[in-house]
Amino acid sequence: MSDDKNRVYIFDTTMRDGEQSPGASMSLEEKLQISNLFDQIGVDIIEAGFPAASKGDFEAVSEISKILKTSIPCGLSRHIKKDIDACNEALKSAERFRIHTFISTSPLHMKHKLNKSSEEVLEAIKEHVTYARKFTDNVEWSCEDGTRTDIDFMCRTVELAIKCGAKTINIPDTVGYSVPSEFTKIIKHLINNVPNIDKAILSTHCHNDLGLAVANSLAGVVAGARQVECTINGIGERAGNAALEEIVMAMKTRNDLMPFHTNINTKLLSKASKLVSSATYPVQFNKAIVGKNAFAHEAGIHQDGMLKHRNTYEIMKPESVGVKQSSLVMGKHSGRHAFKEKLNDLGYTGVTDDIIQIAFGKFKVLADKKKHVYDEDIAALVDDSLIKEDNVIILKSLRVFAGTGEPQKADMTLEVYGEIKKATETGDGPVDAIFKCVKKLYPHEVKLQLYQVHAVTEGTDAQATVSVRIEENGKTTVGQAADTDTLVASANAYLNALNKMIIKRKKTAPEEYEQKKMKGI
Ligand code: KIV
Ligand code: ZN
Repeated sequence: MSDDKNRVYIFDTTMRDGEQSPGASMSLEEKLQISNLFDQIGVDIIEAGFPAASKGDFEAVSEISKILKTSIPCGLSRHIKKDIDACNEALKSAERFRIHTFISTSPLHMKHKLNKSSEEVLEAIKEHVTYARKFTDNVEWSCEDGTRTDIDFMCRTVELAIKCGAKTINIPDTVGYSVPSEFTKIIKHLINNVPNIDKAILSTHCHNDLGLAVANSLAGVVAGARQVECTINGIGERAGNAALEEIVMAMKTRNDLMPFHTNINTKLLSKASKLVSSATYPVQFNKAIVGKNAFAHEAGIHQDGMLKHRNTYEIMKPESVGVKQSSLVMGKHSGRHAFKEKLNDLGYTGVTDDIIQIAFGKFKVLADKKKHVYDEDIAALVDDSLIKEDNVIILKSLRVFAGTGEPQKADMTLEVYGEIKKATETGDGPVDAIFKCVKKLYPHEVKLQLYQVHAVTEGTDAQATVSVRIEENGKTTVGQAADTDTLVASANAYLNALNKMIIKRKKTAPEEYEQKKMKGI
């Protein structure tokens, strides 16, 4: 760790806490792509999962540990030895790794969740932090429900964890209950009252139930914390975690008040946001830093001010987070080489030749159909081509009959487990007819929770991005797809969500998956 007193470490938990939010489960392929990008961006520590929680989590942590060049991989564990063993097993191929172990310390959690006295919790800390230290000198300890913990007891737990070898002490606002003044007080109290606090870095981990996760994290940093736990797009349990992009840009933009710095290459933030949202769920339009409207100026008076001097209404340059103004760049005569250059320009540096080939094919089709091809169109094409893992169901063709005076009808051909199947269905609108076709060709019982369409750029020839969220036995997945034809995008988004559900079934219920596969469902 650096001697620089103003250096703030960024601990990303998009793939652990972030994945705990409904609809956010990611495939291994997606996690590897995200990890690669986080490594490039300069995330210091990547919490890649909870290895003891499932085979899928174990595999993800293990594979991510093998590919990281700079970021330190980390796994989460309860105060259970087999959890710590699983972390060590999953992480051991990395040169350096961190084990993050936690236990609840609030009266409410100790009594109702753990059924342990405070002395028993202290015993557990001693035993498990010491045990984790056998595998690595990089151990992080967290007091779950920290902000509802008695402050004197917290001081005892923190002192003990440091004595047993923890190098990072994380203070979670697990239920998003704290406010900045209180969070400041907690961090300051620890700094002033824990005798060995100088032997560890203090960390914040704030949830957003009251919309204060970022404010609380920054208050923690100002008070003396030097690690922030956060997620891209602020995804996470319930209302989410502190958003990485907001924390980093707040410190950068208001460096006059918060003279801290991170190792994050902010120009890749927009790209990270898009990659995470394409693997999980869409970002709200007005989301700070990475929302579609974050740098849009609609009101005439604002536009006028902007034209006179950008600083009138712009506190950050869009380019500083990797947002470029829409520019007409490529046309149907652009070749593969120019396309590849363009991808580099847009920040898609690690994309394989296979993906470039697929995306280029789609670009040619798009350039034939659409008058103006914008950067955002190209980004949507690549994102759409990037995440296609083990698809069981593939759309082969679709014809839709829509309009007034006739029942809307869809003719569809799908490939399901390698077999070509055709169906025709009528519906209450064309989307209903399409989804009925899918159901006929691939019988399933999922519930449709969300269907959302938005345009990638302006104009009636814009590509539409469709998001679909489905639910099966309490598990949710989100599918996304882009196309100039909204109905084709709708079909592909629904199939994307179904394919993800099938992959999830394969990981979490392999027997059920095999039985269903035998029946072709
Ligand atoms: O919110 C929380 O308390 C957590 C811990 C496991 C750090 O996610
Ligand atoms: Zn959390």
